[in-house]
Amino acid sequence: TQSLTFLGIESSCDDTAAAIVRLTGEVPEILASVVAGQFELHAPYGGVVPEIAARAHAEKLDLCVEEALAVSGLGLADLDGVAVTAGPGLIGGVMSGVMCAKGIAAGTGLPLVGVNHLAGHALTPRLTDGLDYPYLLLLVSGGHCQFLIVGGPEAFTRIGGTIDDAPGEAFDKTAKILGLPQPGGPAVEAEARQGDAKRFHFPRPLLDRPGCDMSFSGLKTALVRARDAAMAEAGGLLRQDRADLCAGFQSAVADVLAEKARRAMRLYMERNPARPAIAVAGGVAANTAIRARLQGVAAEFGAEFAAPPLKLCTDNAAMIAFAGMQRFRRGERDGMDLTARPRWPL
Ligand code: KG4
Ligand code: ZN
Repeated sequence: TQSLTFLGIESSCDDTAAAIVRLTGEVPEILASVVAGQFELHAPYGGVVPEIAARAHAEKLDLCVEEALAVSGLGLADLDGVAVTAGPGLIGGVMSGVMCAKGIAAGTGLPLVGVNHLAGHALTPRLTDGLDYPYLLLLVSGGHCQFLIVGGPEAFTRIGGTIDDAPGEAFDKTAKILGLPQPGGPAVEAEARQGDAKRFHFPRPLLDRPGCDMSFSGLKTALVRARDAAMAEAGGLLRQDRADLCAGFQSAVADVLAEKARRAMRLYMERNPARPAIAVAGGVAANTAIRARLQGVAAEFGAEFAAPPLKLCTDNAAMIAFAGMQRFRRGERDGMDLTARPRWPL
């Protein structure tokens, strides 16, 4: 069996990442996966600042690549190619990554492969769990929320998604509204563990409508209203109120995702009756409560369920190297004219 070893580079949002992945036949092995976050840099602004992100990527990319090589014990001469996220994402960051990859490719003569960030997330269940095609994928992150039928390394059919905010974005806004640190997901989840989900009322948007589309922006309005009422009553935001608000919010998101996943699964099963399988990917898939609900939906259908380990749910370069090798094996590669794309639907 032919073995391939790729360097992967990711810089589309607020994580600078480099990884070395080896693919032997169908079996991948992550030799190194380095992720440098930027939370501290953006924290004072309550959200990712594109200019700051781009500069931080430009500063850290080389270091991440060097570290990934050091961890793997390999040199550039041991590689078969360089894969890089070419979009979608914050354009300055994507450009920094593409430039870095082009520099390495030009200097070494290694082939260059541009990767769609979403394809990286979508193929992660194969990287981590060896999940066979096809499978239904729920991609839920800070910037994305969609149901995809993954039929092959480049066969993605979108069957629904958010019509406004992504759930991760909603978690981040919730944290901001309640004075919790960024990124909001882990902070809100920790609070929710101490809270009563039934105390405050949150809507379940779009559940009354058919289909797999979702909406999360209305939860913010409900949250602000409930918070203001609680604060007026107590003269400030009490710890328990904050926990109850987080629990109520998280439970609304989980209910919507679970019910829409159920519908998406029905649609998927009509097309793929012989292979029930559901996977999650993206940063929000790190949420234990949401994972458990989706696992419950999988069980209802007797479906195989795959949820990548937390480190590979959030942005990383291993998924980019892996997706890049899939393209490369099909004979696809890019030239020095590879461009960074802010928008790039799958
Ligand atoms: O996939 P990702 O690293 O970046 C992209 O958006 O592409 O996802 C980051 C998002 C953030 O919005 C973060 O708040 C959310 O994932 N997140 C979580 C949790 N951990 C991270 N959301 C809910 N619960 C979590 N435990
Ligand atoms: Zn992502």
